[in-house]
Amino acid sequence: MNILLLGSGGREHAFAWKLSQSGNPGKLYIAPGNAGTAQCGENVSLNPLDFEAVLTFCRDKSISLILPGNEDPLVAGIVDFMKPHGIAVAGPDQYAATLEGSKDFAKAFMMRHNIPTAAYKSFTAENLHEGKAFLATLAPPYVLKADGLAAGKGVIITEDIAEAEAVLNDMITNARFGSAGNTVVIEEFLHGIEISCFAVSDGETWRMLGSAKDYKRIGEGDTGPNTGGMGAISPVPFADETFMQKVADHIAIPTFEGLKKEGHPFKGFLFMGLMNCKGEPKVIEYNVRMGDPETEAIFPRLRVNMKDLAVAIAHGGLDKLPFEMDARTAATVFLVSAGYPGDIEKGKPMQIPAPGAQTLFFHAGTKRTDNGVVTNGGRVLAITSLAENIAMAAEISLHAAETVQYEGKFYRKDIGKDLQALQS
Ligand code: AMP
Ligand code: GLY
Repeated sequence: MNILLLGSGGREHAFAWKLSQSGNPGKLYIAPGNAGTAQCGENVSLNPLDFEAVLTFCRDKSISLILPGNEDPLVAGIVDFMKPHGIAVAGPDQYAATLEGSKDFAKAFMMRHNIPTAAYKSFTAENLHEGKAFLATLAPPYVLKADGLAAGKGVIITEDIAEAEAVLNDMITNARFGSAGNTVVIEEFLHGIEISCFAVSDGETWRMLGSAKDYKRIGEGDTGPNTGGMGAISPVPFADETFMQKVADHIAIPTFEGLKKEGHPFKGFLFMGLMNCKGEPKVIEYNVRMGDPETEAIFPRLRVNMKDLAVAIAHGGLDKLPFEMDARTAATVFLVSAGYPGDIEKGKPMQIPAPGAQTLFFHAGTKRTDNGVVTNGGRVLAITSLAENIAMAAEISLHAAETVQYEGKFYRKDIGKDLQALQS
């Protein structure tokens, strides 16, 4: 079977690596891919959002399955577009993808299906003044979210009510986040530790895919601006059996059942961004895809045939698929470019020695040139190691990080430190 994987990050290299181990005799194409995915299949320069071009390519290359790595094609409706053309896509349809595409839709969905989340109200230009009155009823900090996709930047949290009012006004009246901010969700601030939990469904049955913690800030001790993710740990020590059972019973199952009732059974990977509020998981956000860098920490622990999983998502049969999770801990450290998440320079030549037996390198912003591999983005290379505990896994990844060379290399040396005390 020929497969087309969409995307170019570390997550997509992890997908491509798993697919290349699946014993599939067919070809794997990656659009647009990176220097890492090029080791697992053939990179092609196609825009994943140009559905007509993707369709033509699929016909030319006899591709029968598309696997989107990130949300953009899903939210734009690639599943619905391809369906009449007989090309299966391992992902949710556009209605189900709106769980990620619209925060207002996601909140209303959670209310309809009694899924625990922060209390909220939504506001538009019509009821802007009510938004200000609503803010006055809340205790700080205030959480304001642009409704639509805003490249991870559409959430503002502030202690200052005057600033909250100004942000609300800025989003709605001055289109601070473009049309993504036409509707603004204002919600209760949740106190607790954040965690990413994952599940996969074929529309009929589902499986949990474990937990991970994403380190979002650029600086050690969780300081400085937000990034795409500087590292990850999986599993998270406090996400024990009891906690994960609550995630399944209170969140994953009602989400899958709710979508089924609404006529759009979820087929794909569900990312539940949660707050652990004194042992009770509450939803901060849904994503309709795997996380990055969480995938780079979870997939090395996951024993499943990825081709069979992708086929099951699209065509059913997930209940028959053997699934196992490695009990070891994965620690992922992301190497980034100097200046990230601000302005960066690309094209720095890289030396990447072969990793040790417990370690995997997943390329993100890299490119293969005639003169070898060069940097090609802010987040460059995800390094994942598996070991008995967080401290050991992180130490191996940090050691591997020293062996990779390029000008401007930067990485956090404290990934997992906060969780070590929780691990017995
Ligand atoms: P989101 O894009 O919805 O994941 O929000 C970005 C970040 O803002 C999250 O990863 C949280 O760290 C934080 N956040 C969002 N909503 C809340 C909330 N209701 N309470 C506390 N923190 C939040
Ligand atoms: N790690 C957060 C995300 O993938 O959205």
